[in-house]
Amino acid sequence: MGSISLKSVEKWFGNVQVIKGIDLDIQDGELIIFVGPSGCGKSTLLRMIAGLEETSRGQILLDGDDVTHKVPSERELSMVFQSYALYPHLSVEENMGFALTTAGVPKAEVTQKVADVADVLKLNEYLDRRPKDLSGGQRQRVAIGRAIVRKPKGFLFDEPLSNLDASLRVDMRFEIARLHKTLQSTMVYVTHDQVEAMTLADRIVVLKDGKIMQVGSPRELYESPDNVFVAQFIGSPKMNLMPCSTDNGRFLLDGHNGGSLTASTQSPATQVGIRPEHVTLVPGDQGHCNGVVQVSEYLGADFFHHIDCGALGVLTVRTSGATEDIEGKTVGLHFNDDNLHFFDGDQHALKA
Ligand SMILES: Nc1ncnc2c1ncn2[C@@H]1O[C@H](COP(=O)(O)OP(=O)(O)OP(=O)(O)O)[C@@H](O)[C@H]1O
Ligand SMILES: [Mg+2]
Repeated sequence: MGSISLKSVEKWFGNVQVIKGIDLDIQDGELIIFVGPSGCGKSTLLRMIAGLEETSRGQILLDGDDVTHKVPSERELSMVFQSYALYPHLSVEENMGFALTTAGVPKAEVTQKVADVADVLKLNEYLDRRPKDLSGGQRQRVAIGRAIVRKPKGFLFDEPLSNLDASLRVDMRFEIARLHKTLQSTMVYVTHDQVEAMTLADRIVVLKDGKIMQVGSPRELYESPDNVFVAQFIGSPKMNLMPCSTDNGRFLLDGHNGGSLTASTQSPATQVGIRPEHVTLVPGDQGHCNGVVQVSEYLGADFFHHIDCGALGVLTVRTSGATEDIEGKTVGLHFNDDNLHFFDGDQHALKA
């Protein structure tokens, strides 16, 4: 078991409030990701769940038990840090078995448990080495292994992959996904990398300034963001946003053609959003607007075209890498109707 509930949780450092009333129910076995810009409170919230940081107001429940004021060791949660925090003078085996050994578990049992976990994490051949003789990815696996041997109710990860290079990060991401499938335990994972969040999470919690902006599956956040912040935070390259007005069932783009409003978005919209992958390039005088391609970035599989659309700003359009380079050309932009996102003056999404 390992359900975690946060009830109106707040954190104050002196008279500065950094967590501003968080309510969240994390199901047993779920992989939840906290994502948001630097300083929004991700680590603080995770450390509050771990018991490493006091909770100023509200409650934290673990399997229904109030653990708000319990010390970390009484919470049966294991934390994995960005910095690994391994003991440099101990071997991989000793590092992984450390918590069990200090808890008085017999040596033979510790050896067996460490061997089992080393198997899962493919660390068997490194058990005798010191951390300094391992690569970053291997060290991170040891840190994860050390958390697993304790058989906790849940795992708390604070940016575990951010010290790794790009290709190793992808490998370790896959490892963590595999681990979650194998262990089926609750995982709360902090990152500021929205790709990590999208690829790993059952549900993503988007945080900003100590508040939840939206909670949902990766698909929900991508397809149906609640507000401008989430719309632009999830998805890469980020969603294009343009000022618009609405008139008699049409949305109007400043100085351009605009288009018909869909029936569900009749309320007065002040901004319209469209993702780079939902724009089709058409001849210059057609489409909802047009512009001059300033820069075409070629990434192999894709092109990202940055198109100067005058008063609408520079819009990004994604096309297949197999298409032609169109830098310097004037093009029309057609927005797929089904993929338009309308927002009101308070930056809230206008949904059906
Ligand atoms: N001990 C502390 N005393 C005072 N303020 C703190 C303390 N720890 C954190 N803060 C502040 O709380 C806010 C949230 O910090 P936190 O470390 O949770 O952010 P984060 O979302 O994890 O950011 P990052 O992505 O940079 O790791 C920040 O403004 C930070 O300066
Ligand atoms: Mg942090």
